[in-house]
Amino acid sequence: MSRKRVAILISGRGSNMSALIEAARAEDYPAEIVLVISNRPEAAGLARAQASGIATAIVDHTRFGSDRAAFERALNTELQAYRVDLVCLAGFMRILTPWFVGRWSGRMLNIHPALLPQFKGLDTHRRALAAGVKQHGATVHFVVPEMDSGPIVAQDWVPVLEGDTEQTLARRVLEVEHRLYPQALRAVAEGRATPIASAAGKSAG
Ligand code: GRF
Repeated sequence: MSRKRVAILISGRGSNMSALIEAARAEDYPAEIVLVISNRPEAAGLARAQASGIATAIVDHTRFGSDRAAFERALNTELQAYRVDLVCLAGFMRILTPWFVGRWSGRMLNIHPALLPQFKGLDTHRRALAAGVKQHGATVHFVVPEMDSGPIVAQDWVPVLEGDTEQTLARRVLEVEHRLYPQALRAVAEGRATPIASAAGKSAG
């Protein structure tokens, strides 16, 4: 079976992107990373991708003003040019419209630094500490129009320890993320994880 062609969308440092690039180096990995797109020209991840020999593109959302549709059409043009099969959001900080999400339905993943359906949205580590949870973690899920709500592909947890700060907890969760995302992408690329229609928009598990 031919390897799935994957694009990673980033906005920042790209450590999850690097974990995916690293995993995809293995000969038996069912996906290859063919493109990294950033919506921010200054994203540190761009240089990391280039250093790994991956094609990069910048689709700067500020150039489109409030025209979200035009921004997404530009993204889509890049994805089509590289004949992309699957899209991985990795710290991509733009909310996508139902049009774009629909276009990539069942073929777009996101990683979220919490055990969904807990702590959707931003500042997950701070909120987990404030809530006093004993377990926290990361989730890879299919993207649906509602934020952080699509069918779950993979999830893993870490303990919240006495004296944890946002930073120490974030570091522990990030290690999980770097293992989890490559595993989840493998499962999707091999066709072992598909979004079940009835689960779309609801949290699994
Ligand atoms: C990660 O914590 C990811 O879960 C969240 O944004 C962060 C991105 O970090 N969506 P990086 O750019 O992959 O290092």
